[in-house]
Amino acid sequence: MPSPEQQPAWNTLSRIATDLARTPVAELLADEARNRALRVHAAGLDLDFSKQRLNPEALDALVALARAQDLEGWRARLFAGEAINSTEGRPVLHTALRAREDERPELAAGAVADTLTRLGRFADDVRSGRARGWTGRAFTDVVHIGIGGSHLGPELAVEALADGSGPRCHFVANVDGEALTRALDGLNPETTLVVVVSKSFSTLETRVNALSARSWFLERSASLAALSRHFVAVSANVEAAGEFGIDAGSVYPMWDWVGGRFSLWSAVGLPIALAAGSAAFGELLAGARELDRHFLDAPLEANAPVLMALAGIWNFNFLGAGNLAVLPYAQRLRLLPDYLQQLEMESNGKRVQRDGQSVGVHTMGIVWGGEGTNGQHAFHQLLHQGTRSFSADFIVAARAGHGLEEHHRWLLANALAQSQAMMAGQTSDDPHRAVPGDKPSTTIVLASLTPHSLGALLALYEHKVFCQGVIWNINSFDQWGVELGKRLALPIHDQLGGASPLEQDASTRHLIESLR
Ligand code: F6P
Repeated sequence: MPSPEQQPAWNTLSRIATDLARTPVAELLADEARNRALRVHAAGLDLDFSKQRLNPEALDALVALARAQDLEGWRARLFAGEAINSTEGRPVLHTALRAREDERPELAAGAVADTLTRLGRFADDVRSGRARGWTGRAFTDVVHIGIGGSHLGPELAVEALADGSGPRCHFVANVDGEALTRALDGLNPETTLVVVVSKSFSTLETRVNALSARSWFLERSASLAALSRHFVAVSANVEAAGEFGIDAGSVYPMWDWVGGRFSLWSAVGLPIALAAGSAAFGELLAGARELDRHFLDAPLEANAPVLMALAGIWNFNFLGAGNLAVLPYAQRLRLLPDYLQQLEMESNGKRVQRDGQSVGVHTMGIVWGGEGTNGQHAFHQLLHQGTRSFSADFIVAARAGHGLEEHHRWLLANALAQSQAMMAGQTSDDPHRAVPGDKPSTTIVLASLTPHSLGALLALYEHKVFCQGVIWNINSFDQWGVELGKRLALPIHDQLGGASPLEQDASTRHLIESLR
């Protein structure tokens, strides 16, 4: 597969970008046919790309680029379970987790359904009080221990969907002891369920936190037998979870063909089922499944994740907007930027192509953001008048779930006003008051925030990430770059404990001595 910049469409796009740079987006909006082409509907989500600096010519060339990079072929390979994660020799089958049983590739048949059934039953038993702790009391609290893909998705979904009908979930990711101490503070071990989630079961933070949680529990229960009723694990390394002391019957498997950051659809989603019920978890999967169908069936020109990917590439590679602000105007989605940071940056923050050759163009930019309206009183000043280029995703829900309609109308009014201000700007004789505008944004509208719409939203971003990786010709499914820091931490840990730091560079040696 050639690098994207070797495709004829790349040159076409460079030329169009130069031409379009002189056209305000407000002017492009006068073309209603253009606007219609930039609005798509997918799995209950409405996407509006009309505030992007795109015209039909640019759109055609972007779609031509996607075709030339064989996006349709890669999409087929993804769903068929080919080993497209080439550096690890693995298929990438998170879509199989939410597929109908008769549509699952062979690799995933049977095991997925069994695990999800077991998980749903366990979650509902905890919620109903059928599953109880060692003194016979019902579980009131869940301490979830995991990091990265074993944390961000479940925490986001629990924050988005928990309705108070299940146990309270406390998430512990950081190895900083404050995280665990705060989570355990005030909890009664008799009514606490600990869920240890780690695909590898070797991640340092999770092991250290899980060991401390185990000690906390044993000190208070003084019983290894009791432990087995209070600790469950989710892992692809079932053996290591067993060695840690978790009963085989309390270990929920995951598989090496599911990447950590794509894993919330697996047993990693246990806290979602605990907090909102197995039916809600099923609906989450159904929403994602509907989006998968759309991704497979819709023509590229009207395909929501494809258009999101293309708008991103257009902004990053042609318009110089090297970062993406994720702006959910929904308090329950306030963790979306954190989740997307891993999904987008761990997947596509790469500098070599599939064959190991350097990339010739920029790949993923920085993802950041925060919930509206809070951000308006913090960082939006820079968005309106700063010198940095960016693009933004606004995410809103048409209907609120809380009944405070006046709040919700203000929330929506502010979301629309912000995207309008970013697009239109304002002229002024006073340079301090002038707002340049022409900042590209996409608005994603959910009818309301439900398990189904959340599933569709997260699948939308997953496929967007996949499409961008295909166009950049990189492997979106490995993360070798994170290994170096993990390795370097090992001797430093010993040196902080007293071993000689002599072989360290001068700066690190000084810092170790200073910390000691
Ligand atoms: O260090 C990065 C990473 O491997 C992520 O890709 C992953 O989601 C996270 O660590 C946690 O890994 P695990 O689930 O194996 O504990």
